[in-house]
Amino acid sequence: MAEIIWGLATSHVPSIGAAMDYGKTEDAYWKPLFEGYAPAREWMAEHRPDVAVIIYNDHANAIDLDVVPTFAIGTGERFEVADEGWGRRQVPPVIGHPPLSEHLITRLVDDEFDITMLHDLDVDHGLTVPLSVYCPQPGASWPCRVVPLLVNVIQYPQPTAARCLKLGEALGRAIRSFPRDIKVAVFGTGGMSHQLAGARAGLINTRFDRMFLEKIETDPTSLAALSREQYVDQAGSEGIELIMWLVMRGALGDGLTRIHDTYHVPASNTAAALALFAVTDSGTPSAPMRSTLRR
Ligand code: DHB
Ligand code: FE
Repeated sequence: MAEIIWGLATSHVPSIGAAMDYGKTEDAYWKPLFEGYAPAREWMAEHRPDVAVIIYNDHANAIDLDVVPTFAIGTGERFEVADEGWGRRQVPPVIGHPPLSEHLITRLVDDEFDITMLHDLDVDHGLTVPLSVYCPQPGASWPCRVVPLLVNVIQYPQPTAARCLKLGEALGRAIRSFPRDIKVAVFGTGGMSHQLAGARAGLINTRFDRMFLEKIETDPTSLAALSREQYVDQAGSEGIELIMWLVMRGALGDGLTRIHDTYHVPASNTAAALALFAVTDSGTPSAPMRSTLRR
C-alpha cells in the first residue's frame, strides 16, 4: 500500500522561483531565506518520495475565471509549466501519475468530496515554486511524479478551513488505500500573510503567522475553526491561501514530528515560511474535529 512519508508546508511566492532561476540566491536580499531552507532540503533529499501530491491554487493562469472549481485534481501524464506572461520558467515539465490521480478522485468522490477532473492542465508558480523549494536543481527532470490538487482561494466563496482539513483527512485515507508500494509526500502551499492589492497592500501579520506555524502542528482544529473572513482579515486577501496547509495537515494524521521550519519577511510583499513534518506513525489518523467548529 502507498505510504505518506512527509508533509511540506511552503510559500509559493513567484519571486522565490525567479531568484533561483536567475542565480540570485546568494544576494543579500535572498540569502537569509534560502539559508532557512537548507536543513529541510537536506533532509528531504535523503527521504525521496515516488510521488508528491501538491495542494496549490492556480492564479488565473491555467484556469481562467469562467470556471472556478472549488477542489480539482489533475489527471494528466504530464503538466506543462504555465506561461504567466513572462515566458515559461526554465524548469522541467511536471510528470503526473494518472493511476494515483484516478484512485484519489474515486475515493474522494466516494467520501463525498465532489472533485473536478482536470485532464489538461498547465501548472503555475503555485506548484512549480514549491517543487523548486523541495529540489533546487532538478536537472532534466524533477525527482518525483506529481499529482496536483487545486483549491479555489482566489474567488469568494473559498472553501472553509474546516472543509480543507476534512478534505485532507479524506485525502490521507485515499492515498493510504492506493494498492501499490509507493512513498508519497504531501505539499501544502501558499501563504503566509500577504495582500497584493488594495488599501491594505503589503499587509504582513507576524503574530498571526507565528501562531499558525505553531498550531499547524499542535492544534490544526483551532485553525480550522477560523472563518474565511477571519483569514482575510488576519492574513490578508491572499493570505487565505493558508487554508491549503490544512489539507496537507489533515492528510498526515497526528503521528508526526516537526523536522524543520523557517519564517522570513519579506519575500516580495509577502511573509514566507516553510515547515517540514515527518510522518512517524501513519496509523494515527487526525483527531476528529470538535463539534463546536464553525463551518
Ligand atoms: C505573490 C504571488 C503569490 O501567488 C503569492 O502566493 C505570494 C506572492 C507575488 O506576486 O508577489
Ligand atoms: Fe499565491
